[in-house]
Amino acid sequence: MRHMLDIADWSIEELQWLMDTADDIIAKPEDYANAMVRKKLASLFYEPSTRTRLSFEAAMLELGGSVLGFSEASSSSASKGESVSDTVRTVSCYADIIAMRHPKEGAPTVAARYSSVPIVNAGDGGHNHPTQTLADLLTIRREKGRLQNLVIGFCGDLQFGRTVHSLLTAMSRYQGVKFVLISPEELRIPAYLRENMLKAQVPFSEVQKLEDVIKSLDILYMTRVQRERFFNEADYVRLKDSYILDKQKLALAHSQLTVLHPLPRVNEISQSVDSDPRACYFKQVLYGKFMREALILKLLEAKA
Ligand code: NCD
Repeated sequence: MRHMLDIADWSIEELQWLMDTADDIIAKPEDYANAMVRKKLASLFYEPSTRTRLSFEAAMLELGGSVLGFSEASSSSASKGESVSDTVRTVSCYADIIAMRHPKEGAPTVAARYSSVPIVNAGDGGHNHPTQTLADLLTIRREKGRLQNLVIGFCGDLQFGRTVHSLLTAMSRYQGVKFVLISPEELRIPAYLRENMLKAQVPFSEVQKLEDVIKSLDILYMTRVQRERFFNEADYVRLKDSYILDKQKLALAHSQLTVLHPLPRVNEISQSVDSDPRACYFKQVLYGKFMREALILKLLEAKA
């Protein structure tokens, strides 16, 4: 059975199929309105979420299916000590597909071992977030017309930002992509990702100042400093405002820059940037729903 646990498990061709399908859903939503009638999506969210959970649920509803689930661990039997494996065995009796977000890295992979239905990783700790990457890929393809030959800057919390880890992994496979990794020393990407890039000879540089490199970028992917993953509050307070993209900094960038952010934002993008045509983070939100529709279709088709 197919799951969506890590974006690296999905081939370039499969990702292309998902993007083509999402484009087709955007063009002809009525063709898909009954695709999932009588099918159920369970959303098991052990961590807070706005976009990921609601877009999964909206995606299933738009396909004619229904949704059930919980939005916090405290309202599930996890609060009584139930394991992820027992919860998933239970929920697979009720639902056809499960989207799970969990603070523990690898929890959705464990869930997949016990589930009789496809599992989607909707974010596992500071590790991966493959369905945000689906939203990001479609946004890049629609905005830039390509996924190759791009200079992509990731800025902010590259250590704990799981959306960065998944998108970096996905984009490393496209020809001619270069990365500029912009972060404070303490929030650089994890060593295993740096090793993967070196092994695959993916070009990248690591810098600390956004102003020095913004002009060279085709895409700027801003991120929030992940407060919930810090061991102490003082470090968070010291680092939280390391980068703030405002009109002045944006004025240094290319007119064709695409600014992305997985959201939620705190301070790292000033609201005055929202009206700039280069700001694409709310398009990303919308495209995320269509990519999740495509993913549900693919996973449930594969299961049938
Ligand atoms: C991200 C997440 O949960 O990792 N949000 C999202 O799903 N779009 C980013 C974040 O929380 O900063």
